[in-house]
Order: sequence, then structure tokens, then C-alpha cells
Amino acid sequence: MKLRFLTLLLALTFASPGYARDLEKGKEINATCAGCHGELGQGGSRGEYPRLAGQRESYLVNQLKAFRARTRVNIPMYPYTQERELPDEDIKDIAAYLASIELPTKWPVFKESDDALTRLTLTERVMIIPRVTGDLANGEAIYQKKCVTCHAKNGMGRGMFPMLVGQYTNYLKRQMDLYVKGERPHDEEAVGGVLNSFKEADLQDILAYITTLQDQQ
Ligand code: HEC
Ligand code: HEC
Repeated sequence: MKLRFLTLLLALTFASPGYARDLEKGKEINATCAGCHGELGQGGSRGEYPRLAGQRESYLVNQLKAFRARTRVNIPMYPYTQERELPDEDIKDIAAYLASIELPTKWPVFKESDDALTRLTLTERVMIIPRVTGDLANGEAIYQKKCVTCHAKNGMGRGMFPMLVGQYTNYLKRQMDLYVKGERPHDEEAVGGVLNSFKEADLQDILAYITTLQDQQ
């Protein structure tokens, strides 16, 4: 019994490097974020507010710290990340909570016994980004050659590199434009880097390709 407890303790300690995250606390904090990003972290106003649900935890932590330090400049986000509002502990909790939310990309199949509320709750979670037009073959070729090392083949990201799939297209485009203009650093090793080498049409093609990836989730 003792040994099992120790093993569990060790597992918990090493699963989350150095700290425990409190998902309940994260959920509480989310009440202040929900006004813009939605209660399920699904974002809103067609991408004016990005989706946060299912985004990578360490990426969320980094972005919240970047808003707080104003290395990523955004007026609406700034007040919500000030030290008094969002200390490091809270950043960990809210990031863990948001990262844990799964939003399905397929409509649910209802059981006869499901009542109206169950049906509504299941339907509300579904998040499907509409396809956009573009040269899919070109988008795929660029994406698979230039983006997968960080954002992964399926667009789900890895480690601190964000998930792109399932995110609003116009939000992603706005970020690409900021990167190209040098107003948001894309990747620390290559500021301004990879995205500056493409034509506008290529960016559109990449975005179109990304919208096809969610069907495979
Ligand atoms: C008043 C509206 C508003 C509120 C409230 C708000 N945000 Fe935001 N948030 C935004 C906007 C707008 C953006 C997009 C910024 C951009 O386009 O660069 C954003 C972006 C973000 C991003 C970056 C997403 C990405 O993919 O890079 C994160 C993370 C985030 N918000 C977390 C939060 C958290 C956590 C809270 C609550 C503590 C919160 N926000 C509250 C408006 C808001
Ligand atoms: C070497 C790693 C790397 C490569 C390769 C890379 N990215 Fe990124 N990408 C990042 C990092 C790191 C971030 C987060 C930057 C930050 O902190 O603001 C990011 C963020 C993004 C975002 C914003 C996501 C959000 O939620 O705000 C978009 C859009 C994006 N990348 C598109 C691309 C595309 C398209 C390609 C290929 C042409 C690409 N990236 C290649 C590392 C990379």
C-alpha cells in the first residue's frame, strides 16, 4: 500500500514538471475569460476571440505571460493578465483547464433516451471550422515541408508549439499578418522567419489546407 502511494506521488510529481495544477481553480478563473472566449473556450465572434479549448498547455502559459509582459501586444488581453489579476499560479491552472477541454468535430449521434437538455449540451460542444477555398495541393506541400516540425503533421502542435487545426481561419490569418509585419515574433529562433518567404496566395492555401485537417481528428 505504502509503495503504491509513493509510486503515485512520484508519477504525479513527474507528470507535471514541478507543480500541481488545480483544474477546479482553472474553471473558476475561466469565468472571467468566458465573456470573450466562451464558456467552453470555444472562442467567439467568428475568430475575433480565438479558441482556447484543447490548445497546448505550455503554449497557453507562454502566451499569457507574453501578454502580461507586453511582448505580445493586445489591448483586450492586457488587463486580464496583470500580476494582480493573473499571477503565475493562476496562469498554470487556467492553462491546464483550457487545455483539457475537448470539443468534438462531428455531430453527435443521439440515443432515443437522450432528453432535450442532453442533446443541447452535446450539440453546443461541437466545433467545426468551415472549409475555405484555396489551392489545397499547394497548401499541403508547403505545410508538410515547412510547418510540421513544430505544428505537427495533423496540425495539433507539440510541446510549446500551438495547435493550428480547429482554430478560426481569420484569427490565424490575422496572426500570420502580424508575424509578416514583425509585430508578433513567430518563433524565437527565426523572428520574422518562415512566413515571410511566401506570397499572399500561399498563406491562403496553407489556411485552406489546415481546414481540411480537422476532418481527420
Ligand atoms: C475582453 C475580451 C477578452 C477577455 C475577457 C479575455 N481575452 Fe483572451 N484574447 C482576447 C483577444 C481579442 C485575443 C486575440 C488577440 C490577437 O488577435 O492577437 C485573445 C487571445 C488570447 C490568447 C492567445 C490565443 C492564441 O492562440 O495564441 C490566450 C491564451 C488568451 N486570450 C487567454 C485568455 C484568458 C486565460 C482569459 C481570462 C483570464 C482571457 N483570455 C480573457 C480577448 C479577451
Ligand atoms: C521552428 C518552429 C516553427 C515552425 C517551423 C513553424 N512555426 Fe508557427 N509557431 C511557432 C511558435 C513557437 C509559435 C508561437 C509563437 C509565439 O509565441 O507567439 C507559432 C505560432 C503560429 C501561429 C499562431 C497560432 C496562434 O494560436 O496564435 C500560426 C498561425 C503559425 N504559427 C503558422 C505557421 C505556419 C503556417 C508554418 C509553416 C509555414 C509555421 N507556423 C511554422 C513555431 C513554428
